[in-house]
Amino acid sequence: MHTARSIVILTGAGISVESGISTFRDRNGIWAKHDWRDYATPEGYERHPARVLEFYNQRRRALKSVQPNQAHHALARLEGAHKGEFLLVTQNVDDLHESAGSRKLVHMHGELNSALCRACGMRAPWRDDITVNSQCKSCGATGFLRPDVVWFGEMPYQMETIYRALGKAELFIAIGTSGHVYPAAQFVEEARLSGARTIELNLDETENADAFDERITGRATETVPALVDRLLG
Ligand code: APR
Repeated sequence: MHTARSIVILTGAGISVESGISTFRDRNGIWAKHDWRDYATPEGYERHPARVLEFYNQRRRALKSVQPNQAHHALARLEGAHKGEFLLVTQNVDDLHESAGSRKLVHMHGELNSALCRACGMRAPWRDDITVNSQCKSCGATGFLRPDVVWFGEMPYQMETIYRALGKAELFIAIGTSGHVYPAAQFVEEARLSGARTIELNLDETENADAFDERITGRATETVPALVDRLLG
């Protein structure tokens, strides 16, 4: 396959599994242990801010002991070697893509290593715990900091950038995402409308598998490097 001029890649939790980070909807996934309504909605946060802050503190702390895997590194290699346009859109809030060297990267669901101030809207890098007493470095307000993670019912980040890239895509690749959550689950249709070839890499059959021209089944650490080798010829 010739390397398409414009490539858009969407990743989900499945690409980070082999680095030791749980998915959400697998049998022992995060939402099997925590009700998403309590931990990933503005209402859940309003009900129990300290409990929600601690849930994300634990996940942020865990980032200090995980490393990117061969799938993350392969995507960074593809970005570096690809001559045309390239955008990596991740639903993940971990920092493994940037740790592997990815730069043309959009975190559409935000990042664990970022804090958002509900008083002034500041978004800033934040690697420590966020507590109900944390102070905003911009406006000085105390008790208004929350994880800079997009919750259900909130608007994902950089949607204009993403749809512009999808409108020009010649190749769209979805890796390790179950296709349950919108708008990300709809990106493959956008790409098809632009005439892109669409490929899905996953361990299992997914919700929107039929929307893809090609499906490659297997673990991301095997399938992603192999696909990148194929694309770079
Ligand atoms: N290699 C490839 N795919 C894998 C692997 C692996 N080693 N292990 C699991 N998968 C696949 C699963 O088959 C599943 O399709 O990864 C997918 C994970 O799906 P989800 O747990 O639903 O994660 P994701 O699709 O990223 O969820 C999207 O939902 O809760 C919200 O904001 C959260 O960003 C998240 C969004």
